[in-house]
This record gives sequence, structure tokens and C-alpha cells, in this order.
Amino acid sequence: MRIVMVGSGYVGLVSGACFADFGHTVVCVDKAAEKIEALNKGVIPIFEPGLDQLVESNVKANRLSFTTELAGPVADADVVFIAVGTPSRRGDGHADLGYVYAAAREIADAIKGFTVIVTKSTVPVGTGDEVERIIREANPDADFAVVSNPEFLREGAAIEDFKRPDRIVVGLVDDRARSVMTEVYRPLYLNQSPILFTGRRTSELIKYAANGFLAMKITFINEIADLCERVGADVQDVSRGIGLDGRIGSKFLHAGPGYGGSCFPKDTLALAKTAQDNESPMRLIETTIAVNDSRKRAMGRKVIAAVGGDVRGKKIAVFGLTFKPNTDDMRDSPAISVIQTLKDAGAIVAGYDPEGMENAKQLLDIEFTSGPYEAADGADAAVLVTEWNEFRALDLERLKSVMRTPILVDLRNVYRKSELEVHGFSYTSIGKSS
Ligand code: UGA
Repeated sequence: MRIVMVGSGYVGLVSGACFADFGHTVVCVDKAAEKIEALNKGVIPIFEPGLDQLVESNVKANRLSFTTELAGPVADADVVFIAVGTPSRRGDGHADLGYVYAAAREIADAIKGFTVIVTKSTVPVGTGDEVERIIREANPDADFAVVSNPEFLREGAAIEDFKRPDRIVVGLVDDRARSVMTEVYRPLYLNQSPILFTGRRTSELIKYAANGFLAMKITFINEIADLCERVGADVQDVSRGIGLDGRIGSKFLHAGPGYGGSCFPKDTLALAKTAQDNESPMRLIETTIAVNDSRKRAMGRKVIAAVGGDVRGKKIAVFGLTFKPNTDDMRDSPAISVIQTLKDAGAIVAGYDPEGMENAKQLLDIEFTSGPYEAADGADAAVLVTEWNEFRALDLERLKSVMRTPILVDLRNVYRKSELEVHGFSYTSIGKSS
């Protein structure tokens, strides 16, 4: 299949490289000339484990290329994926579809022969209908079908998720498009990944329902964690205890500082808006958003309490700044709110992250250090915000020796109280009373 990927951001780049690896011929298009220039030199603009090798080997095999020119590749394509950003619109929280519609208009002018146009971006219900209308209006003679095919990959595990998905969801109304999409995903269902064909609106909603549910599941266990602290229970045991029930499932039950990232915050907000607009409000999702927002600052107050209630003039070390490990993504990271709360209370903050430092420097006005021990040098407390592997086996004696006071607040439950106390630390975690 000849595939064009419009938008070479996170989803576009990973999907494009993986489709090429399946044997398809893929052209990734992006308006940002510097990005395309960098990609053509083999420089990958995002951090994602394994992506650089995947891009390199498929470029070498002539299956993957990058360009700013859309028209030529689209004219030759069997399938055109739209994988541009759908950020939250300023002011009202709706998904901003400006980039999706602009891409549709440009594609419309370039279509030659039967072409399947696929929205891979996360788009609200009804967007496929509008994309179809835009293309028909711009090019009434075009032979095309519009399909919804949401992506469920996680940052940091994107290639594995793409190549071994729990399911592939394809929403369409056209039989010719169905056989094209079957061909596109043939290598995956040979791997036994189920492919679910639905209506287009259903497929669009599945994406939001999945992210909304996962965000709600995390928020549920976070509230259980707070209750555990009050009643003398242990949230990790509660997670295990409920997760073994097959109806609940053990994943996404790790209590922490609240969810962040480029998807859950934006998608829950957009889902709540769509529901309100259709007079079918989703109170569970509205509450999830509110609980998660307030949790992030509450985590800052938790640190202040662990230090004795006053951090004015005290130095706090922050381990991990990105919204989760194995990414350089700082978008809606809980670290931002935790640090803001500490700074508002007068603390001096030093932070370190294995991959996120450059992005963090754009957002945070703190001292950045070359490692966790440097951040902890002379600190009155250290906070583990993101569970990078590098923080899972800290040299506790070394850490204690550089700190002014050995206090560790572990917002990801990486350590055990008993082991930290052996090393003379005062230790606070999430969802445990002792
Ligand atoms: C999420 C979904 O997991 C993907 O399926 C989806 O494709 C993607 O959004 C998207 O819509 O593009 P991602 O944002 O990369 O993926 O990251 P997750 O691993 O889901 O983590 C999201 C946040 O939840 C992180 O801040 C993480 O620390 C937090 N989390 C996750 C918890 O606090 N506890 C958990 O048990 C799991």
C-alpha cells in the first residue's frame, strides 16, 4: 500500500515508521520545514525508545521518506492518514480541529483515483462527517471514503503498542474502504490483534471513552489512596486485591500524583464538552477532571507537610519532571503543579529529569542539575515525582550524605518505608498510613 501520513508529530511519526516496517511505502508530510529537514538527516524530534533505529532502517530500505510537499504523495496514495494535532481550544476546552480541517482541504485538491482518507488524530464525534463534507465541497469529482481509525499507543511504549495492539478500531461506511483498511492492517491481524469494524461516529467515541475510562480508573485509585491514609489501609494491596478481579483488571491502578500528558487531560475535557453540547452530561468525567486538577497541587502540599509545614527558604529536590518515564514530554506534568505549589510557599527547587530537561527549561524557573544527587545537595527534602528507572535504585547512603535533612516524599510508591528507615530517612508515600 502507498500511505501518506499528514502530520509528523508523535502519532504520525510512530505510525508512519511502523507502517513502513510492515512493508508499506510511507511518505510523512509536515509543514514544519525544520522538522522535515531534521528527519531527512536522521534526527528524530521526539524521544521515543527504538524510534530512531526504526526510522533509520526503513529510510534505508526506501520505504519511508519525509517531505513538506503534500500534493504529489497524496496523488499517488491509496491511503492518506490525518495525524495532526487536536489541542484543547483556548477558553472552552473543545478540541481544536483547525489543523484537521486545513489538512482535509489540502488533501481534497490533490486526490487522484480512489483514496481512503483516515483520521488518526483524536477527533470528536462527527469530525469524519465534516472532513467528508469539506473534501466533497472542495473537489466534487474526487473518489474517496473517510474512515476513523483512532490510535491507542502510549508514549514510551509506542512502537510495542503499535505493533501489538489490544485491538484496532476502524470506523467506516464504505466497503471499498474496508478492504483497503484490511490490507493496511494485514500484518497486525496475522499477529492476532483483533480488528473491530464499527460505524464512524462509534469509532470516534471509542477513543474518548477509552481515555476517559482510564483517567477515571486512575482517579478512582487516587481517591482510594487518600482514604487509605485516613483509615490505616495500604493502597498497593487494595490495587492488587481489586485488580485480580478479572472484571476490574490490574492495569492503571497505580496511585500517584494525578494523571498528566498530552492525552488524558485534553481528551477528558473534550469528552465532557461533547457530552454537555449533546445534553447528555458525563458527570463522572467532569468530576474526574476536577479531582485530578486539585490533586496535583495537593501533592505539593503533601511535600510541605512532610517537611513540617513550612518550606520558606528551604531547598527541595525534585526527581523526575516529565508526566511519566521514557518520554521527554512535559505537557500537563504533575511536576509543574507540585513545583509551583512549593515555590508559592517560598521553597527553592532543584530538579533533574533524565530526558525532559530541555522541555522543562521552557516551563519551569528552577535550578536544573545534572543528576539526582546534585539536585539533593544540601536539600531539606527530596520528592520523587516521576518513576524513571534511574530513581528506582538510588544509592540511599549517598543521597542521605548529601542532603541537609533526609526526607523523601515518594509520589509513585517506588520504595518501602522499612528500607528507607533503615537508612535513616523520614519517608512519606501515597496511600499508606505507616
Ligand atoms: C494514553 C493512553 O494510555 C493511550 O492508550 C492513548 O493512546 C494515549 O493516551 C493517547 O490518547 O494518545 P499516554 O498519555 O502516553 O497514553 O500515557 P499513559 O501511560 O496512559 O499515562 C498517562 C498518565 O497517567 C501519566 O501521567 C501516568 O503517570 C498516569 N498513570 C497511569 C497513573 O498515575 N497511574 C496508572 O496506573 C497509570
